[in-house]
Amino acid sequence: GTYNEPLRPQVHYTPSENFSNDPNGLIYANNLYHVYHQWNAHENKPGYQNWGHATSEDLVHWKLHPPAITPDSEEGPFIFSGSAVIDVNNTSGVFNDTTAPENRMVALYTSATDEKQTQNLAYSTDGGYSYTKRPGPVIDLNNTQFRDPKVFWYEAGSKWVMIVSLASQHEMIIYESANLIDWTETSRFGNVGQLGYEYECPDLFPVKVEGSDEEKWVLITSVNPGAIRGGGSGTSYFIGDFDGKAFTPMDLTVREMDFGFDNYAGVTFNNVPDEKRLWMGWNSNWLYTGQVPTEPWRSALSLIHELSLTKVNLTHQQETLMLRHTPVDLSSLASLVKQTTTPMSSDSIDFPSDGAIDFTADLAMTSSSSDSASKSASRITIESEDGQNSIEIGVQFADHIAYINRGNAGWSNAVFGNVAATSITIPEDEQKVRVRAIVDHSQLEVFVQDGIHLASMAFFFEDGRVPARLRYTNDEGVVTESFKLEALKSIWQ
Ligand code: FRU
Repeated sequence: GTYNEPLRPQVHYTPSENFSNDPNGLIYANNLYHVYHQWNAHENKPGYQNWGHATSEDLVHWKLHPPAITPDSEEGPFIFSGSAVIDVNNTSGVFNDTTAPENRMVALYTSATDEKQTQNLAYSTDGGYSYTKRPGPVIDLNNTQFRDPKVFWYEAGSKWVMIVSLASQHEMIIYESANLIDWTETSRFGNVGQLGYEYECPDLFPVKVEGSDEEKWVLITSVNPGAIRGGGSGTSYFIGDFDGKAFTPMDLTVREMDFGFDNYAGVTFNNVPDEKRLWMGWNSNWLYTGQVPTEPWRSALSLIHELSLTKVNLTHQQETLMLRHTPVDLSSLASLVKQTTTPMSSDSIDFPSDGAIDFTADLAMTSSSSDSASKSASRITIESEDGQNSIEIGVQFADHIAYINRGNAGWSNAVFGNVAATSITIPEDEQKVRVRAIVDHSQLEVFVQDGIHLASMAFFFEDGRVPARLRYTNDEGVVTESFKLEALKSIWQ
């Protein structure tokens, strides 16, 4: 791939060619962020799954490397999703003194055949570029649906912890280990919330509650198929506590990671300094990922987001906690195209060509009556030059709803959902909604209320048309108080 093909995202990570899915082994090591990902190095559809590899110094630009873990043969076993840690103290005993402590990277991944899925270990002595498989599994339950180990160092108990999915039983098993090889089950969590068909790609990690010293644990489950939105792939999470052995949720509310259709299998990085919790997902959906019209690659990974927990008051609910997503700082790519601080009811702005677009609109209700007969809506449409294709972001103040509509965006098929919507938080005393969106050729990431609500939507304008213009219009009673649009230059060119 040359990274300038039609529909090719310019600020999102995509493989140069062929099919990719889940991010794997996300880790910060030796001043570099490593992203591995599910990749079929041979074809533009799922199949020969292995770990593709890229590194970044700034979480914005990516350097591509050869696959880091590959199957033994064309027939497998395939290298499914998993995670990576640094075994500084050589607890596993797989290293010798010639490997510098900071280079002792260990990957725990699922070895997958039709007969069974086991958790296996591979180690790298060159800082994560190539791995050697340790023969045989570290966990074998003789199960065909047992996968996606996330391993991390649990400081308070000086031990390794793994959370892994017993996919079709809707259960996550938590294990502990002193050496990454011998694992003991400590608890199970599951059969709650959104079940769907299978649970995949779990994660378990602490996150700070904004404005306090409090820390809570978040447990992520990716559900496929049968997710709440659109019936395909979707991610939900629980908030609670972890005592080193078991996770206890504070409630059984089903919280969704994203209200769009294209955010799946997201997990967080290990070893990030300053207790930052960085997350990355796969911006596609198993329902149609093999059909989307991109060549010679398929699927983007999301931008990297920092996660925090924030207190919110959803309509008709009491105060609760939700994850906030803050996208990585893109200012090194940005140049200002338009900024208005005069309240406006409508406008139209042309995009400069090539790169991507990052805009923020501050919307406000001006009429004091929130029960006005009108819908009090605000619509932002991103369209092709000829106006033939468009995708719409909308906010309905009266109903406290945000939505994305890709029904007029071009390519679709029978299962490619059009409208994704969610209830949003609008403070009682301040009827304001901030919408930020990053529009990247065929990827849209929308952050509502500073990332309390996230929507990731893939869209494919016909014949490689590019997003060329944005228009916004507000119903009576709503204004765009301020608006800012920046052009983002390509990370690839
Ligand atoms: C999730 C998933 C994982 C599996 C991988 C295979 O998208 O199905 O459960 O490990 O993809 O590519």
